Amino acid sequence: MKQVLSLLLAALLVASLAACAGSSPADPTGNTTADPFVSAEPESTAAPESAAAPDTTAAAGKTLVVVFSATGTTKGVAEKIAAIENADLYEIKAAQEYTAADLDWNDQSSRTTKEQNDKTARPAIGSEPLSLDGYTKIYIGYPIWWGEEPRIMDTFVESYDFTGITLIPFCTSGGSGIGRSGQNLADNAGSGNWLNGQRFGGGVSETELQTWIDGLN
Ligand SMILES: Cc1cc2nc3c(=O)[nH]c(=O)nc-3n(C[C@H](O)[C@H](O)[C@H](O)COP(=O)(O)O)c2cc1C
Repeated sequence: MKQVLSLLLAALLVASLAACAGSSPADPTGNTTADPFVSAEPESTAAPESAAAPDTTAAAGKTLVVVFSATGTTKGVAEKIAAIENADLYEIKAAQEYTAADLDWNDQSSRTTKEQNDKTARPAIGSEPLSLDGYTKIYIGYPIWWGEEPRIMDTFVESYDFTGITLIPFCTSGGSGIGRSGQNLADNAGSGNWLNGQRFGGGVSETELQTWIDGLN
């Protein structure tokens, strides 16, 4: 008798599940597109609470703007970001400063051409080492050289542990986009929470930077 009842209950359960699935509006468009929305709902309901906690932590932490700038353009943008964010500024200086001849992109044998052609090049940093204690957010800026980050940026990111820190790449260029440079830095760093980067022209205004920063939060 018990077995019969169990079988009946199981049959009822299967029937009701089938009825639910059949009435789903997701069916006509296919389950694959509908499923992420279905599973996203509980996450988004939970998001305000869980998102509030890291925000509070980030507010408690300090913000740093790190910049490498060979001719001053990216440094100008970095200073504006630091002013908006009330952040500290750290400048990466090459141990051996880049001369005008070093920066000559028309010269196949110039220092920068050779460095950019060698993904393993790691020019030494001359600035005092940095303590990342207390920082939870770092903007990291550089000029685009041959479509990528200057190799000294790889020296920098490989020198620190960014665990628990959000990193936001930004760059200036003559017109090229940020390309893969932000991803290269994230890959080489191997730690930290890296956001998508942004390219700016040297004349970017405080208002434009503020809008960008607001969009990150
Ligand atoms: C060696 C070298 C390579 C460059 N390669 C590019 C490039 O591929 N695309 C681009 O748009 N600009 C390129 N530029 C221009 C710089 O990205 C641009 O002038 C930048 O704003 C300079 O920033 P800085 O003054 O902070 O060094 C290059 C400049 C140099 C010196």
